[in-house]
Amino acid sequence: MDMGLRNKTALVTGSTKGIGKAIAIELAKEGVHVLINGRNNEEVEQTVREIKEKYPATTPQNAAADLVDIRQREALFEKYPHIDLLVNSMGIYEIMDYEDVDDEIWEKYFRTNVLAANGLCKFYLPKMMNNGFGRILFIASEEAVMPSGKMPQYGMTKSMLLSLSKSLSKLTAGTEVTVNAIMPGPTLSENVQRIIEGMYPDEDMSFSEKEREFMAANLPQSELQRFIKPMEIGRLAAFVCSPYASAFRGSPIRMDGGMVPTIF
Ligand SMILES: NC(=O)c1ccc[n+]([C@@H]2O[C@H](COP(=O)([O-])OP(=O)(O)OC[C@H]3O[C@@H](n4cnc5c(N)ncnc54)[C@H](OP(=O)(O)O)[C@@H]3O)[C@@H](O)[C@H]2O)c1
Repeated sequence: MDMGLRNKTALVTGSTKGIGKAIAIELAKEGVHVLINGRNNEEVEQTVREIKEKYPATTPQNAAADLVDIRQREALFEKYPHIDLLVNSMGIYEIMDYEDVDDEIWEKYFRTNVLAANGLCKFYLPKMMNNGFGRILFIASEEAVMPSGKMPQYGMTKSMLLSLSKSLSKLTAGTEVTVNAIMPGPTLSENVQRIIEGMYPDEDMSFSEKEREFMAANLPQSELQRFIKPMEIGRLAAFVCSPYASAFRGSPIRMDGGMVPTIF
């Protein structure tokens, strides 16, 4: 399906790895010029080269920056003042006990997972409104609506993103600009794969066997009983960014492998 995104420009934050990278690839597949972001310039360059080789009709570019740093964000705005699609995928997460989460950590998570994305929205949303078309997409998490209690500092930020998404969506009434959020469940980023491999060092076990054991022991509530592939989130994100998805407005869209047990 041609999603009608050819020659649009997208900034995908945190796109040197995992879900962000998969979203950038799926957008490039649709003819989108993607701006690749991460803090490691080498990895950004490598991802730009990889995408350019696979999708030579597109012009991926280097948007390396630490998005938590306001000055680096502003430099990015100067370099790329106009984009059509903003995918806020960059985020940090780790399992923590509530008692170990001090104020500094709460702040770090708020600044990284919420304020950085909000800073980008504040700059690009008015431009999208002037341009008559735009898409903002937040990558939240099933933790936003079903906090596991294992990462309170993270769950809080993901709930906030759903609220921010709806608030911004309210500003877009009557336009072709949309703001939405996808809530992935457990997804097989390189990071997650490394953790699973580390938990099951047995070389005779295939990765699918390790995955099956891990899911049964740790995530029995997943109906999928495997990790979501980053590409699956990428494909959904590309659709939500497309002109066919204009009726999604401030929606929290679940692709969680059935982790959330409720209808809504
Ligand atoms: N994986 C899952 O199971 C899962 C499930 C639900 C939701 N999510 C959400 O999906 C998003 C992506 O997760 P992931 O697992 O794919 O992440 P990941 O593999 O850890 O990748 C994170 C990306 O963000 C970049 N990054 C980190 N801090 C940054 C900063 N300050 N400025 C710019 N870039 C930065 C990283 O590159 P550098 O480190 O080089 O900067 C990397 O490209 C996150 O928001 C996460 O909360 C993930």
